[in-house]
Amino acid sequence: MEQRIVIKVFKSIDSRNSLVYMSKGDNLLDALVSSNLTISNECGGMGTCGKCMIRLVEGALDISTQDRNVLSEHELAEGYRLACTAYPDRDCTIMLCSRTSDDFKVVTETLSYNAIKESSMEVISHSKTFLHEKNSYALAIDLGTTTLAFAIISLRDGVIIDKYSANNPQRIYGADVVSRIKSSNEGKLKMLSDLIRKGLRDGIYALLAKADTKMSNLEKIIISGNTTMIHLLMEYPCDNLGAYPFKPINLGIINTFSDDLIGLNDRIPLMILPGISAFVGGDVTAGLLACGFYHKEEPCIFIDLGTNGEIVLGHKDRLFVTSTAAGPAFEGGNILYGVGSIPGAIYNVSFKNKILSYNTIDNAPPVGLCGTGLIELVSELLIEGLIDRSGLLVDRYFDSGYPIAGMKLIQKDIRELQLAKSAIRVGMDILLKKLGLSYEELDEVYLAGGFGYHLDIEKAVMIGLLPEALMNKVKVVGNASLSGAIMSLSDSETIKKMQDIISSAEEVHLSNEDDFNDLFINYLSF
Ligand code: FES
Repeated sequence: MEQRIVIKVFKSIDSRNSLVYMSKGDNLLDALVSSNLTISNECGGMGTCGKCMIRLVEGALDISTQDRNVLSEHELAEGYRLACTAYPDRDCTIMLCSRTSDDFKVVTETLSYNAIKESSMEVISHSKTFLHEKNSYALAIDLGTTTLAFAIISLRDGVIIDKYSANNPQRIYGADVVSRIKSSNEGKLKMLSDLIRKGLRDGIYALLAKADTKMSNLEKIIISGNTTMIHLLMEYPCDNLGAYPFKPINLGIINTFSDDLIGLNDRIPLMILPGISAFVGGDVTAGLLACGFYHKEEPCIFIDLGTNGEIVLGHKDRLFVTSTAAGPAFEGGNILYGVGSIPGAIYNVSFKNKILSYNTIDNAPPVGLCGTGLIELVSELLIEGLIDRSGLLVDRYFDSGYPIAGMKLIQKDIRELQLAKSAIRVGMDILLKKLGLSYEELDEVYLAGGFGYHLDIEKAVMIGLLPEALMNKVKVVGNASLSGAIMSLSDSETIKKMQDIISSAEEVHLSNEDDFNDLFINYLSF
């Protein structure tokens, strides 16, 4: 007979426990998630991100190979384990100690308020068909892999009334699109779809309450997102997104209604912006629109350092686009103490007289390292000689990790950053070669993504994320996807501009390029 196991779960020392029932041989993380206990799962249960850490209080749990890779001897002795590699064979009592999704509720990194505002003002001044009705509003939404960003716009004068952001609730199924596609293909498509629809509903209600306006005042909703997020929202099967032939079900503009798609009570026209390919979605098209690529005479480069790392290079007549396997490191994903740009995230690090100091977002007590903090810490450790050019921590910190604010940067975190920055640099080099240009010939560099907001460009150059030649050409544009969605609220001409961008885009698959491997290895070093 199947042996039933009871896991007593405490969320914190002083909380009441929950009981989770499972069978011998079941995975602990799966059992916790099925019992609605939110626990971070950024690597999709691969045992690499360390975010699903629990602490065994009573009972026994074998130590897995992944436990040994991610946790220190001391932590193992204290009973810490990764839930994703734990298979209890008897009753246990555990405490959740990873950051749950709740910690990500107040996310602001996806919005660069001024960039959006400027963009929308530009639209207003050029738009002929902008609505001028009193009390009518529209919503722009960036459906990101990590975060959801919302903005409410007055259609009377085009001003951004308010904004709101939240964690993408699908994050419990992994931090990147690959993990989500895997979950979808394993039969969880409906669950992922329901989660994101609810996330959008909740965000819209929260924003309307914040802006003190009613649903009935909304005229239109526009959503931009990468191809996988849109597939999951539409409940399209993702089988062909994660494997050859990488063929999306639908890349075009989708016109529907809010009640049909996301279950709002009111029937509001809802439009989803068009994408370019399985890898380069409507979020990038929207970003290119916001940065004005439809009229660029001179070659420019657009880099979105979000979870997917998309790069676009070119001008109005010809654009090369690609998506790199940069992973979520720039958003704190797969980093042991990595977090999004939330209050308390360390975003700035410096050494003065060998003493480390740091700043956190909103000056809140430190909770982790966001992408910018990671870049800053690594660049400072390089300067101090505590990391060598190959990325190795000096012996003293090799096993224990480098301590910061009661947390630590471990060797694997540095590797994650190296892989991510190398993927971006290789992508930039290969696209540049396609256009037959040098970095010196580029006019402007648009750096999009939530983390760009606090980024010190010099430090990004120092770790090799950006070439020195681009140092003075970088424009940090924040959440360009949201800016593009806001611009698209204006008139049909904007949609035509997006379609022009799409028709001039040519996709490049980096792994098909002969020099990909050599370049990738070359750029791993600092
Ligand atoms: Fe367990 Fe990432 S989900 S280590």
